[in-house]
Amino acid sequence: MSETAALAELAKRRGFFFASNEAYGGTAGFYTYGPEGAALKRNIEDAWRDLFVRELGNMELEAPTVMPEAVFEASGHLEGFDDMILECAECGATHRADHLVEDAVPDIEDAEALGTERVAELVAEHGIGCPSCGAALAEEPVEEFNLMFGTNIGPGSGAPGYLRPETAQGIFVEFPRLKEYARNTLPFGVAQIGRAYRNEISPRRALVRVREFTQAELEHFIDPERDRPPIEAVEDVEVPLYSASAQTGDGDGGVERHTVGAALEAGPLESEWVAYYLGRSVEFYERIGIDMDRFRYRQHLAGERAHYAADCWDAEAEIGGNWIEVTGFAYRSDYDLSKHGEHSGEPFTVFRQYDEPRTVERAVVDPDMSYLGPEFGEAAGEVADALEALAGRDRSAFEGDSVTVELDGETHAVPVETTGFAVEEQTEAGEHITPHVIEPSFGVGRLVYSVLIHAHGTDTVDDEERSFLELPAAMAPTTVAVVPLMTKDGLDERAEGIAARLRADGFEVAYDDTGNIGRRYRRQDEVGTPYCVTVDYETLEDDTVTIRERDSTEQKRVSADDLSAVIRRLVSGDALSEL
Ligand code: ATP
Ligand code: GLY
Repeated sequence: MSETAALAELAKRRGFFFASNEAYGGTAGFYTYGPEGAALKRNIEDAWRDLFVRELGNMELEAPTVMPEAVFEASGHLEGFDDMILECAECGATHRADHLVEDAVPDIEDAEALGTERVAELVAEHGIGCPSCGAALAEEPVEEFNLMFGTNIGPGSGAPGYLRPETAQGIFVEFPRLKEYARNTLPFGVAQIGRAYRNEISPRRALVRVREFTQAELEHFIDPERDRPPIEAVEDVEVPLYSASAQTGDGDGGVERHTVGAALEAGPLESEWVAYYLGRSVEFYERIGIDMDRFRYRQHLAGERAHYAADCWDAEAEIGGNWIEVTGFAYRSDYDLSKHGEHSGEPFTVFRQYDEPRTVERAVVDPDMSYLGPEFGEAAGEVADALEALAGRDRSAFEGDSVTVELDGETHAVPVETTGFAVEEQTEAGEHITPHVIEPSFGVGRLVYSVLIHAHGTDTVDDEERSFLELPAAMAPTTVAVVPLMTKDGLDERAEGIAARLRADGFEVAYDDTGNIGRRYRRQDEVGTPYCVTVDYETLEDDTVTIRERDSTEQKRVSADDLSAVIRRLVSGDALSEL
């Protein structure tokens, strides 16, 4: 059985995750996390929050998942958040055209960058058939399909809205308020963990491509001219980099391991801020249990970047022989804040104070309304505004006897002497700038899936095959399972007491008294519980218990009184053999 099939079976049987709504035939692209999966996911989110919010000193918010159309008009999602769709005329199944090409043509890793026309040609050239029914797809058009789920806000259809396709927009639209909390001082970061929705054309690979998923995103707002990341903190961190040139054949074709510092100095890392977050993220991936030998950072090719991204790297985990994007690191420049500023008319800027006040020359106007009023009637105010804008833009327009302004496609001549045009000296303390944004965007479901795949293994213990999840202790859904040797002679009561005390001390505890001890250990190994505590007859005599370690299967007796302290040490990284 493949590693993904084995995990899917385990995930369903032991309550990690399973397809939703199966009682009603299922709904493709929706998954439910069972009790074990929900706990693992929560632990991963907590680890993310611990690093990217608490440790790095950022803010966290929680925004609505439904947002009005105007937000996505401004952000560009309405216009450009598309994937390539190809529909089979024979069976009606819909497919991601770029994925069909990538699956069929070994040399093509990123067909999306090639555009719809070229992808349609490739489908024909390679005789690609429908994965569902086998019919030829050569004649079918490849089209753009917008991935947003639409809805109406309130009754009727007058207020269209969308389920957000990324949590980021819930942060960007609140920038005017958020900058106040940051006391109008850059840089500052705002994080959010929450649901995002995409009407994926063909959901697949379990949690990898679903229609509702959790993102953990950080938007770091900076002054691009003044702010630098504390790069020293990550300079020596080693990062496995798969550069654009390696992908296009200019490099040696593979992943190269460099320190962040070296990769910034000699390439391929370009943006210090993106480099900083790649370096920071290594610690996070290690903490949650990603196998760093099955992991790389891949640079986006030019045609692959999202509509907002200036420089972009993806963190990818290897799963079943495929590289899966688990995080996007994007330099979004001032794209989002500028767009929201333009569309809303609100100030998506911060005031940047000059070191010294500056004296500047400004072209100003003071139009004579006693002339403009009778001449232009209701449009007089607009003509005055147009004159002001023109003075700021092009002083030379005021050099002749009359100046020409354009209103709603019509030109109007205004005598210069009525405009009050003058060039004045003004002292300015600073200027309004639109911050730039660096965004690490993590897909929590893909992380859960990668961690599970990388942690899942089998070995032989006591001549029997064992299936286990080698999860970091701090990520495991259950930290310790208490197992009484027998359910008689007071062993069960003693074990229940120990379990209750561990719970009171803050541990996630399972209590298991069914089946033989070996079976119970295996049940816990299979869901990744790092420690089992066995209560036996010796416990009744000397108040000691056995701790068994999942990975080594080693066992050691410790005093029941010391149990919480011992487990705390084990969870923080000490090995049982060293205690
Ligand atoms: P892909 O190319 O795989 O569709 P993407 O480039 O569209 O991914 P982003 O838009 O950068 O992904 O989204 C940020 C993160 O959100 C991704 O790194 C991924 O972890 C997660 N994500 C995106 N789409 C999905 C999805 N359909 N299901 C689960 N997670 C997703
Ligand atoms: N916020 C990045 C993305 O979801 O595309």
